[in-house]
Amino acid sequence: MDQTADTPDTPLVRMSGIVKRFGSTTVLDGIDLDVARGEVVTLIGPSGAGKSTLLRCINGLERIDEGSIEVGGDLLRYDESHLNDIRARIGMVFQAFNLFPHMTAAENIAVAQREVLGRSRGEALERSRQLLDRVGLAHKERAYPDNLSGGQQQRVAIARALAMDPALMLFDEPTSALDPELVGEVLQVMRDLAQEGMTMVAVTHEMRFAREAADRVVLLADGGIAEQGPPQQVLERPGSERGRSFLRELDQH
Ligand SMILES: Nc1ncnc2c1ncn2[C@@H]1O[C@H](COP(=O)(O)OP(=O)(O)O)[C@@H](O)[C@H]1O
Ligand SMILES: [Mg+2]
Repeated sequence: MDQTADTPDTPLVRMSGIVKRFGSTTVLDGIDLDVARGEVVTLIGPSGAGKSTLLRCINGLERIDEGSIEVGGDLLRYDESHLNDIRARIGMVFQAFNLFPHMTAAENIAVAQREVLGRSRGEALERSRQLLDRVGLAHKERAYPDNLSGGQQQRVAIARALAMDPALMLFDEPTSALDPELVGEVLQVMRDLAQEGMTMVAVTHEMRFAREAADRVVLLADGGIAEQGPPQQVLERPGSERGRSFLRELDQH
């Protein structure tokens, strides 16, 4: 048996013994991590710890060297049709928004719905409008990316990911390219999503978000999970020396 039955109690993501190397460097050295349905996990850790790599392994953008990953009970394989299937179920939001500059906000959100899900133009635009409303941008349907602030563009990017009706959302430092005054509006959308029960794994330096929205904080360091638990525990009473030194470094910024 190489997969688990997919019941409501099965973790949505199950990573077992993940090893990821780049050349002779082992970036992830045997990671075990499950994400339950509806759980919000924030991934923190020093730069270069492998946070982005771990996220990218979950949707098959990076291929693991050892171990296994299951998404919704399906063992991740690297043939194209399976990868397409997995990626359609996982939304990803990056630091860079990468919207199409020649398309309006609504059209940006509609593209993949039409190409991947086969929705009609009318259906896709209708869903785009609902999602723009959900991220607080109903009035920006016809705006082009150049005429939107960074925070607004990132909210369009989140709506674009949600348009695929994903079972899981991955965020890789979604606010780190934004001017400080625009961070709050993006975090608010993420908090709302968390509240609505979306399963999320978010790499972030926003400890306020981790404290308020995460069910669990996972500290990645030196190729492994140095510490994990409820935010209050990991962020206020870390048990490991690695955890304490990471928090001291954060405090200095
Ligand atoms: N495609 C790649 N090729 C070679 N090395 C990489 C590649 N991607 C990441 N790395 C290396 O893996 C380590 C972890 O990177 P990354 O996952 O981006 O860390 P983080 O997101 O925690 O800052 C770093 O040392 C980085 O240089
Ligand atoms: Mg990174």
